Amino acid sequence: MADPAGRHQRVAAKVEAGVLEVLRSGRYVGGPVVDEARRRLAAEFGWAYGATTNSGTDALIYALLALGVGPGDEVIVPAVTFFATAGAVARVGAVPVVADVREDLPLIDASRLPLRARTKAVIAVHLFGEPCPLPGLPVPVVDDLAQTAGATPAPKNGTIGAVSFYPTKTLGAAGDAGIVLTDDPETEQALLRLTHHGMPSPYVHERVRGAVGANSRMDAIQAAVLLAHLDDLPARVVTRRANAARYDAQLPAWVRRLPRHASHAVHQYVVRVPARDGVRQRLAAAGVECAYFYPASLAAQPALVGFPHDPTPRADTFCTEALALPVHEGVSLDEVSYICAQLGAAPP
Ligand SMILES: Cc1ncc(COP(=O)(O)O)c(C=O)c1O
Repeated sequence: MADPAGRHQRVAAKVEAGVLEVLRSGRYVGGPVVDEARRRLAAEFGWAYGATTNSGTDALIYALLALGVGPGDEVIVPAVTFFATAGAVARVGAVPVVADVREDLPLIDASRLPLRARTKAVIAVHLFGEPCPLPGLPVPVVDDLAQTAGATPAPKNGTIGAVSFYPTKTLGAAGDAGIVLTDDPETEQALLRLTHHGMPSPYVHERVRGAVGANSRMDAIQAAVLLAHLDDLPARVVTRRANAARYDAQLPAWVRRLPRHASHAVHQYVVRVPARDGVRQRLAAAGVECAYFYPASLAAQPALVGFPHDPTPRADTFCTEALALPVHEGVSLDEVSYICAQLGAAPP
């Protein structure tokens, strides 16, 4: 499903030179490499400013803090996403309100949002790389851009965005890393302070938008790795899109494809199948790995028990059918054809 070591081989000379330069410079926290990464990564995702963080989860947490989200607030999150989307809300002391997804796609359903008086924000997850537009809401939208690297154009609702550079992402670091994105210079300054112990100057620590800061910095080694990978991103997207087009053309008829927007950079290629465990066994017997993204609605996660959720029937169905197939840039067109053939003419 991912091959970070194989990917490293393809860009090794550049990555290793960048890392070595940092090691020899002695600037391991902050410094010019981090500043360059901040600028270039923000631009890549289509935003004016960014504050680098040490994970995508922290990027979400600081996005929420910069919006002033805290205890007593509710934040709407989609039922189908990685746990961190809701976990970040709980971590800032607010209530994650899990909302069911659309019929056609596992994206938050704009027509059925559980908006209430205490709703402070909505998190739009552009899941798998599919844009999730939420225009005209009465509250700010946080864009969870963890799965959107390489999208053209990048999805954006516009208030604040959070990206993960987890190693298996299309643009991944050699460890944990993330960035919070904004077009507002004041919010950028707030984010930089929040992620640096709320320090406007050395050893002065202030609350920022009501919150106490902490350390969530992307280190210079990760910044160097990401800068080296950035130039390779367009080529990755070309391969991923070609692999996805091959799946579209060759999947057996009983495998249901998801609609895919033209901007999609195919972080994941996910289909819906009956008898999913049997399909997984069939593929495993043919030497093919696959994954369940995601195996359960967030409403069913033990960590979120006790928060108020409406039922999420569409998400529940999606989560029993969803199967992600290998699509990354280390997978060849012939391998995609092989996988399509191994799925067989009828479900197991
Ligand atoms: C949709 C989504 N949100 C948030 C995250 C959290 O990012 P990280 O693992 O970098 O903390 C991830 C990735 O893991 C993700 O896929």
